[in-house]
Amino acid sequence: MAYGQFEQFIRNMSRVMGAVNTRLQRDLTLRTRVARRFSMVEVASLLGVDTTYLTRISNEEPAFPDGEKRGRERTFSPSEIMLIRALIGSNPAAKRPYLHWRRKGQPVKVVTFGAQKGGTGKSLSAAHFAQYVNLHYGLRVGVIDADPQATVSLYFADQSLPLFQPNTPTLADFMGVDTPGADDLTERTPQDLDAVWHPTPWPGIKLIPGGANIQNGDISLFFMSQRSHVPVYRVLKDTIAKWEEFNGPKTAVENLRGDNGRFDHEAYETALNETLDVIVIDQQPSLTLMQLNGLIAADSVVIPQTMKGFDLATLATYVSNIGEYLEFIMGFEADIEIGAGEHMVLPTIVQEQNTQDTDQIVELYRKAPREVLQVWYGRSDAIANAAEEYKSIYEYLPPSSRRVSARAFMANANAVNDALVQRIWPDLPPREFAAKFIEERWG
Ligand SMILES: Nc1ncnc2c1ncn2[C@@H]1O[C@H](COP(=O)(O)OP(=O)(O)O)[C@@H](O)[C@H]1O
Ligand SMILES: [Mg+2]
Repeated sequence: MAYGQFEQFIRNMSRVMGAVNTRLQRDLTLRTRVARRFSMVEVASLLGVDTTYLTRISNEEPAFPDGEKRGRERTFSPSEIMLIRALIGSNPAAKRPYLHWRRKGQPVKVVTFGAQKGGTGKSLSAAHFAQYVNLHYGLRVGVIDADPQATVSLYFADQSLPLFQPNTPTLADFMGVDTPGADDLTERTPQDLDAVWHPTPWPGIKLIPGGANIQNGDISLFFMSQRSHVPVYRVLKDTIAKWEEFNGPKTAVENLRGDNGRFDHEAYETALNETLDVIVIDQQPSLTLMQLNGLIAADSVVIPQTMKGFDLATLATYVSNIGEYLEFIMGFEADIEIGAGEHMVLPTIVQEQNTQDTDQIVELYRKAPREVLQVWYGRSDAIANAAEEYKSIYEYLPPSSRRVSARAFMANANAVNDALVQRIWPDLPPREFAAKFIEERWG
C-alpha cells in the first residue's frame, strides 16, 4: 500500500506540532485566571445593597474577608464575593435571600446554548451566563463543554486542568459512551459521575471540559443505536438524573451558622461544592447525536444567533432538523418530557451602526415575541481583545484605551443575562439591566 500525499502531510504536521511550543500564550492566560478583583462599590452592586450597608457589615462581621488593600480601596475576588454573600445571606437578620441556592427537592436546571452555525457567540454567551448567575445570585454552576474544540473550557481552565490531554475525562466519559464499539454504556456510580466535574478558579463553578474524545461519544452512540436498546438520545438526560440522586443539595443557607451564630467556614465550603444549581451546556455547531443529547437534557434552550441573511438560513435548518428529530423520538416514546422551561433566540454580534441587523430583530420579535429576546449582544471591540486571552468580560482587565468599551460590553452582558434569568427563573429577583436596555433601544 502506497502512502498518499495526505498521509504524508498529516505525518509531517504531527511531527512539527509535537515540537512547536503552543503553551506560551496559554500558560500566561491560565496563570492570570480570575485575576480581576472587584471594588466595594462593585461588590455592593452585585449583592444589590448600599455601599454603606456593606461597609458596616465589613466592620461588624468577624468573618468578613479583608480583601486586598490598594491605597484606600479594598478589592475582592469572586471567591471573597461568594463568602460575603454567604455571610450576609446566612445572617438571621437578613431581610431577603442573598444566596439563591436551590433547596432539597428542587431539581437542577439545565440550560443549553446551541445553534447550527459556528461563531455566533454560543461559547461566550454560555461563559457569561455561568459567571453572571454566579456573581449576581451566588449560584453553583456546572459547565459542560460539548464541543471537541473546547472553547468554553478555555474561559474557565487554569493550570490545574489538563486540557487537550487524551485521558482527561469529557462529556463522553460522563455519559458512559467513551468506548467506541461497546454494546452498552459504561456503568458509573453517582460518586464517579461527580468526580468528572473539575473545579475551576470560580467559586462553585465546575467544568466538564471539552476535547476530541467527545467524538468517540458519537461513534459509540451510533453503534449502540444499531445494536442495543440504549435510548441514544436521552443518555445525558438520564446521566444527569443519576448524578442528581446522590449529589443534590444537602445544606441549607440557615445551616451555615452554628448555634452561637458564628459563621461555619467548613459547612460553607462543603455546601459550596456539594451540588450544582444549574448546568450550562455549550454545544458544538452541528446536530450530532452528542449534541442532540444536550438538547434533550435541557429545561431551556438558548439559540445565540447572528442576524445576517445567510446566518438566519442556518437557524431555519436548525429548528426544522430538531423538529424532525423530536417527532421521531416522540414516535417511540410518546410521554418523554423534553424542555419544560422557556426557550429563546438570542440575537448576537449585532451591528447597531447600520439598521439592517436591528430591523431584522424587530421583524423576528414582532412575529415571535415569546421566542425572540428583546435584548441582544452588540458587536464589541473590547471582547475581540479579551477573547485573545480567553477572558470573558467579567474577568477582563482592559488597558486604559479600552476601558470605556469594556464597561459598555459588561453592561450589555448584564442586560442579556438579566433577560435570560427572568425567563429561566421567573422566581429569582430580577435586576434592572434588561429593562434599561429595552427602554434605551425600544423605548
Ligand atoms: N458581541 C461580540 N462582539 C464581538 N466579537 C464577538 C462577540 N461575541 C463573540 N465574539 C467573538 O466571535 C468569535 C466566536 O465566538 P464564540 O463564542 O466562540 O462563538 P461560537 O461558540 O458560536 O462558535 C470569538 O472570537 C468571540 O470573541
Ligand atoms: Mg463555541
